[in-house]
Amino acid sequence: MSTHELYAKEPGETLWQVPASGAARFSWEYDEGRDRLLALYQKGKDKQWDGQKRIDWDLEVDPYDPLGTPDEAVTLYGTPYWARMTDSDKGELRKHYASWQFSQFLHGEQGAMVCAARIVESVPDLDAKFYSATQTMDEARHAEIYGRFLHEKIGMVYPINDNLQSLLGDTLRDSRWDMPYLGMQVLIEGLALAAFGMIRDTTDKPLPKQILAYIMQDEARHVAFGRMALRDYYKQLTDAELREREEFVIEGCYLMRDRLRGVEVLENFGIPKAEAEEFSENSEFLRLFRQLLFSRIVPCVKDIGLWGKRLQQAYVDMGVFEMGDSNLDLLMAQDEEIAEKLDAERFAVEERERVTEVREAVEEGRRLTG
Ligand SMILES: [Fe+2]
Ligand SMILES: [Fe+2]
Repeated sequence: MSTHELYAKEPGETLWQVPASGAARFSWEYDEGRDRLLALYQKGKDKQWDGQKRIDWDLEVDPYDPLGTPDEAVTLYGTPYWARMTDSDKGELRKHYASWQFSQFLHGEQGAMVCAARIVESVPDLDAKFYSATQTMDEARHAEIYGRFLHEKIGMVYPINDNLQSLLGDTLRDSRWDMPYLGMQVLIEGLALAAFGMIRDTTDKPLPKQILAYIMQDEARHVAFGRMALRDYYKQLTDAELREREEFVIEGCYLMRDRLRGVEVLENFGIPKAEAEEFSENSEFLRLFRQLLFSRIVPCVKDIGLWGKRLQQAYVDMGVFEMGDSNLDLLMAQDEEIAEKLDAERFAVEERERVTEVREAVEEGRRLTG
């Protein structure tokens, strides 16, 4: 079915064109590269996987409760609207929310693919081009998987959120080569990764859990790349240049915190925008969720050397300053472990099933011949 028919809201033009600026760069130096980057490139090649095969698409999903979301986690919970809703209305609302959330993941993954390709084009060094080429492929696979999940299992798609789109546009239009890294690899991917992790760790539904765990295994490499490249580069920048980047980060963080809440879902249910915003502001659950969304961004920003006074103050105001001390390497190592453990568990079950099947076949054979 064409995606157009699945949109819960008119998405506008099917093609979004962002004019490119800056140069495409070639390097004629083929045999020198930074060891850490080349090792990451090697890992990127070794760890490719195919979502058509690795994910068990036969698992069923209830489109009216795809993630097993508890009532308290729904924005409308505890409001007069919720009290008036029938069970089928609530199912419909859950479907819209899951669709909205995974649609933003899908559009974000496409954005990540385009940004990674932009980095291939514009970054001056060949080692970074090589690595980014593997990431471009990773992001293509992620977009493919979220797209399949939405088409086959949810049956509904939301357009990209306006603010996510404008952040993506700013990131791509900027001619400074580090901006796609900062906007995409650090901000948008950092936010997405935290959201993936919260759902991965709380959902009891096997299909979304597999999808998120496997995708997060790749994202650990992407964050590592952004950190390496930017940490080196930001050491050479002047104070004024660093402040510009910090302003971009502050603005981007507020935008993502305040404007990426799925208010358009509630509007779709006939709730006025101002009221919908108030509900999402007052929900205890969402407040915690919004803070946790920064668990990957804050330590990363600090690590790459964007840690001036104004930025620190912004994080204090947002209540996420302490997250700067969390151990990013540990979080990434855990993401990889969780995916590997999930594989091991699934293959152990398959192996048991295979053994039982063989045993039954042997017994059947014995019965027939004996
Ligand atoms: Fe991705
Ligand atoms: Fe990524």
